[in-house]
Amino acid sequence: MYAAPASPSAALSPQPLSPPAPPLDAWMREIATRTEHALDRFLPAASAAPTLLHEAMRYATLAGGKRMRALLCHAAGAVVDADPAALDAAAAAIEMIHAYSLVHDDLPAMDNDALRRGKPTVHIKYGDANAILVGDGLQALAFETACKAPLPPAQCIALVRELAAASGSLGMVGGQCIDLTSTGLRLSLDELERMHRMKTGALFRAAVLMGAHCGAPPVALQVIEALERYQQAIGLAFQVVDDILDVTADAATLGKTAGKDMQANKPTYVSVLGLSASRKLAIDLREQARTALAPLGDRAVRLSALADLVVERAY
Ligand code: IPE
Ligand code: IPE
Ligand code: MG
Ligand code: MG
Ligand code: MG
Repeated sequence: MYAAPASPSAALSPQPLSPPAPPLDAWMREIATRTEHALDRFLPAASAAPTLLHEAMRYATLAGGKRMRALLCHAAGAVVDADPAALDAAAAAIEMIHAYSLVHDDLPAMDNDALRRGKPTVHIKYGDANAILVGDGLQALAFETACKAPLPPAQCIALVRELAAASGSLGMVGGQCIDLTSTGLRLSLDELERMHRMKTGALFRAAVLMGAHCGAPPVALQVIEALERYQQAIGLAFQVVDDILDVTADAATLGKTAGKDMQANKPTYVSVLGLSASRKLAIDLREQARTALAPLGDRAVRLSALADLVVERAY
């Protein structure tokens, strides 16, 4: 899939050691397709009993979403030359946790949303009780999937540990709890940042570090430190931009209800900082992400492009 030399003179010039990376769009399509296939493979068939639950788990997970966490996992894996088959399992596991978090986030007892990824939310289509079970099923399946990465046991354990820490009460679930108990309150900037880092940043961190854990150990400390600094910046930037888009984009573009945060009186970056300061913060965080990647050189081109995407995305 790599481009042939562009001209006879290019063909005569010394060959690079490795072929140039494909353009970002093509690479993103490739990873999205790989992730879709991996999810399809790891999810129980819709014909497996209980069929209603498995149909709903597939509805929640397949054919939708930007696959940002899968992209980050593969892009971080590229830094350490990880096996793509291992990255497929890691990326599918993270996308399962993410999909479960969205199903529960949309429930009437949480954000009470009817639209997700351009379709009726899982509880609208299958009922509240089934939506709770879909989330439970996806969460368990995510850990089983991480264990199926074709890696030595110690690396599988590292994947599971990273994913569990990011998903639990000190990560995504804890952040969601703070989100719900903060409704109607005015948070300080520090409190808001903490909430965003937990509810969204934690899974971004897992995506990046799980990609690195798919490489042959030991991963150089310099790489881990650069990736840690990178994820700190883009994990927060992603939720800052989510808060901005809730105000500036429409439902057709977002594939989810717009204007929801203000309507529900949620503290967000827009409500605390205002729109233009929030935009500036997102751009500053992108700059921090780029700076973090500098020591990694060309190996981090994908991660750098994803930092742009996190900040410039329209949905
Ligand atoms: C939405 O995440 C929830 C947040 C953490 C902000 P995404 O915007 O990545 O959702 P999909 O996967 O593309 O639908
Ligand atoms: C969701 O945050 C974070 C998680 C699902 C963990 P939001 O509630 O802002 O996400 P959207 O806007 O509904 O996608
Ligand atoms: Mg929410
Ligand atoms: Mg929500
Ligand atoms: Mg939101």
